[in-house]
Amino acid sequence: MLSFILFSLILHSSLCEDKRPNFVIILTDDQDVTLGGMTPMKNVQRFIANEGTTFANSYVTSPICCPSRASLLTGLHVHNHLTWNNSLHGGCYGRYWKRLETKTFAGTLKASGYNTFYAGKYLNNYGFKDAGGPELVPPGWSDFHGLVGNSVYYNYTISNNGVPTHSNDLYLTDVIRDLGVSFIENQTESRPFMMVLAPPAPHQPFTPAPRHKDAFSNVTAVKHPNFNVRAENKHWLLTMPPSPLPETMLPELDRVYRSRWESLLSVDEMVADIVETLDNNNLLDNTYLIYTSDNGYHIGQFSQVYDKRQPYESDIKVPLVIRGPNIAKNYTDVQPVLNIDIAPTILELAGIKPPKSVDGKPIQFNQNMDRERNMLVEYYGEGRDGTVDPHCPWAYDKENLAQCYPQYDCKCQDARNNTYACLRHISHRINMKYCAFADEQNFKEMYNLNSDPYEMKNIVNDVFPSIRHWYKLTLTQMLTCKGADNCDNPLENPKLISVF
Ligand SMILES: *[C@@H]1O[C@H](CO)[C@@H](O)[C@H](O)[C@H]1NC(C)=O
Ligand SMILES: *[C@@H]1O[C@H](CO)[C@@H](O)[C@H](O)[C@H]1NC(C)=O
Ligand SMILES: *[C@@H]1O[C@H](CO)[C@@H](O)[C@H](O)[C@H]1NC(C)=O
Ligand SMILES: *[C@@H]1O[C@H](CO)[C@@H](O)[C@H](O)[C@H]1NC(C)=O
Ligand SMILES: *[C@@H]1O[C@H](CO)[C@@H](O)[C@H](O)[C@H]1NC(C)=O
Ligand SMILES: *[C@@H]1O[C@H](CO)[C@@H](O)[C@H](O)[C@H]1NC(C)=O
Repeated sequence: MLSFILFSLILHSSLCEDKRPNFVIILTDDQDVTLGGMTPMKNVQRFIANEGTTFANSYVTSPICCPSRASLLTGLHVHNHLTWNNSLHGGCYGRYWKRLETKTFAGTLKASGYNTFYAGKYLNNYGFKDAGGPELVPPGWSDFHGLVGNSVYYNYTISNNGVPTHSNDLYLTDVIRDLGVSFIENQTESRPFMMVLAPPAPHQPFTPAPRHKDAFSNVTAVKHPNFNVRAENKHWLLTMPPSPLPETMLPELDRVYRSRWESLLSVDEMVADIVETLDNNNLLDNTYLIYTSDNGYHIGQFSQVYDKRQPYESDIKVPLVIRGPNIAKNYTDVQPVLNIDIAPTILELAGIKPPKSVDGKPIQFNQNMDRERNMLVEYYGEGRDGTVDPHCPWAYDKENLAQCYPQYDCKCQDARNNTYACLRHISHRINMKYCAFADEQNFKEMYNLNSDPYEMKNIVNDVFPSIRHWYKLTLTQMLTCKGADNCDNPLENPKLISVF
């Protein structure tokens, strides 16, 4: 009798179990990889990197929050998802997005039987009245806890499945952690799950949890050879004064640098708590953990202050660390990867063929492929957004400039003609960047990252015209590409290797 009951129990559980893997995606906001942004992440190192693979050449399609998140969720380039910038009429949680939103990888997984969970910052205008309000729950999520608006640490509203909940004094990263832990504890084996944890850290205002304040009080900003040097032969915005920044500005850069690290410590604790909860619930072995950021960050490079929105490595290169079933441990993989690859990678690991319309390609794990790739980065400069302080000398041109404040010595961080597209071209021997600006000069920048990792020397006028021409043609073609087959190396590569 007992064995019969046992037998029925086993039969029952094996019929009801869905063995497909679970996914946990941790998406930070503005976390660089080139300035030491991963140094404070001891738990990410221990629980994800040591147990998985670190991607050393991971880039984003656009170095700015909303367009980059739209790419991560859809697997599409900016020119295909049409989330151009962070404002509503620039497509950030706008009307076109709401049509696309039904086609994110979350929607596909949910339709195939996954429990899907989101907590934290969503597309920047989510929850605002003119974007539909916090009662609107984006399709694709069975459990949604989206932050209303942009990055903050206190005094925010979260839409808990359409119920707006305000908090003044709960530290946001900890709230996201608690929701994530609770969701995992609620899972049964009848359905796999996918969760996104998207804390705004280390975004401005870089507020650490009280327990982490002053944890890095002795840390100062990293000073690579490109730190606070005058921008030579770079596009117009970078040549704006003051250049270099005055000495009086440098302590502020140090403060920003260490506050960012301190604000990341609660994210690092969250990672440990999530891994522990997965482990306690026997879910860890069948779960992929993906740690990445929506864009990088610069602090002082080429006499800029602190921000993103530029085509340099600090801004477009991001951390990407993945652990999970059959993924090599303690391994560094140099294959070039873009954030649009995440959605098709997850679908493929879940046993679903990614749609042909997706621009990214599934990551090939454990092969360290000597893959050549031309990765497209697009940025559409902003103006007229009310961020030019009237005390700045350029306040007369607030139509075309943005992010100019006296506390930055009026160094502007953005302009309408800070609009560009770049090719980041990587293979075993090639490590190039070619950028074209949509400004009055049709300005071009080109760097050989192998010999010039800090992008000090613009070589666009030093290379053979045929090579310049090839990049120009490839870039033009990439800017209208659609679908993975078309967006991956659309033109044949001339034999560049002999030149470098
Ligand atoms: C990964 O490397 C670290 C540091 O070298 C080591 O402590 C750890 O045991 C390794 N982990 C695995 C799973 O190999
Ligand atoms: C954002 O993009 C839209 C559409 O291209 C543009 O009209 C708008 O001016 C941009 N926003 C800002 C603040 O520049
Ligand atoms: C909280 O946010 C609201 C709206 O964003 C603002 O009006 C209010 O002053 C803030 N309160 C505090 C204590 O910062
Ligand atoms: C987990 O389940 C409990 C009990 O039903 C519920 O109160 C809680 O909201 C759930 N957690 C999440 C994150 O959905
Ligand atoms: C910072 O440096 C001072 C002087 O070298 C030292 O006494 C102090 O312990 C350091 N603090 C931290 C948090 O490392
Ligand atoms: C870029 O825009 C600024 C502000 O409108 C203008 O002063 C400058 O001449 C422009 N530069 C180029 C190269 O287009």
